[in-house]
Amino acid sequence: MQTLNIIRPDDWHIHLRDNASLQLTVPLAERTFARVLAMPNLTPPLTTMHGVLDYRERILAVAINQRFTPYFALYFTNDLNASTLREAKLCPWILGVKLYPQGATTHSDWGINDINKQFENLSIMEELELPLLVHGEVTDNTIDIFDREARFIDTVLEPLQQRFPKLPIVLEHISTTEAVDWVQSMPAHIAATITVHHLAFNRNHLLAGGLRPDYYCLPILKQHQHQQKLQQAVMSKNQSKFFLGTDSAPHVQDRKYSACGCAGCFTSSIALPLLAELFSAHEALPLLESFTSINGALFYQLPINTERLRLIQSPWVVPQQYTTDDLSFIPLLAGKTLSWQCQPIEDQSNE
Ligand code: NCD
Ligand code: ZN
Repeated sequence: MQTLNIIRPDDWHIHLRDNASLQLTVPLAERTFARVLAMPNLTPPLTTMHGVLDYRERILAVAINQRFTPYFALYFTNDLNASTLREAKLCPWILGVKLYPQGATTHSDWGINDINKQFENLSIMEELELPLLVHGEVTDNTIDIFDREARFIDTVLEPLQQRFPKLPIVLEHISTTEAVDWVQSMPAHIAATITVHHLAFNRNHLLAGGLRPDYYCLPILKQHQHQQKLQQAVMSKNQSKFFLGTDSAPHVQDRKYSACGCAGCFTSSIALPLLAELFSAHEALPLLESFTSINGALFYQLPINTERLRLIQSPWVVPQQYTTDDLSFIPLLAGKTLSWQCQPIEDQSNE
């Protein structure tokens, strides 16, 4: 049986949600990840220091591993200002500010509708070297949903980068050839997260032979050639600008499976088994650790984890659902058998 012992991964883009959901999302995340960057698209959104610190307490209250470390991004709203940014820079738990174009995705109603009105804030972030984390899709309904990321890069991101050349940027959950090329053409302070589902799947998984809401996420899964480009990006030796952000985004069952279902793939528990399967199939297992456990820490100037995670090549059936007393979330690939699994955390303490 093949085993893989790697530096414990970090998840640089996760939706832990809030309140009762945390009882489920936090223990699941910490089984795999030492650190996570929790997204701020809560209701109401995380826009203040106070909000972040309270949310951190709610997360830590349900964490089992005392060393589990959640980090945060502030939600970029029209009310963001210089003093909040300066406070954020001094807070050890805040790694950046998340830009959602208004209407782009789940809970983006408080997002930015005109980036050109935000130059003052962006200039302060550049001065502070406080990263801008970007949901990179245009929201114009006349633009085809499959073209929204590429269009965003051309019309919003590229001009922004030229105006603020020193601003650190993470283009989140990239899904296209254009995004890979753009990030690769940029200096080291511009990087991207990539999800497991954008690496493992393409739009056929979502649409061919039946409509499968589990695979519906934003940015939407693209054609096979884009998937291949993402795979090449992380499975090449020159992959330091790309790191894992699962974008694990649970939605309660009746919101996800409805006539107008929510976007988001719940992948926290399958992330590492599926990545091991994928990298193994491409004979690229030696490159997995830098993608999951090193590149992101270096970008955010954080230490590399000392704990480790052991994966074993042994069949594992993905649970049909994860439930608390009141809630039920269905993971992507529920009921399917994966060929790798994470060794339970209890067995890993002496690794
Ligand atoms: C995310 C969510 O549900 O919060 N959904 C998604 O499809 N990725 C929001 C996001 O990251 O776009
Ligand atoms: Zn997300």
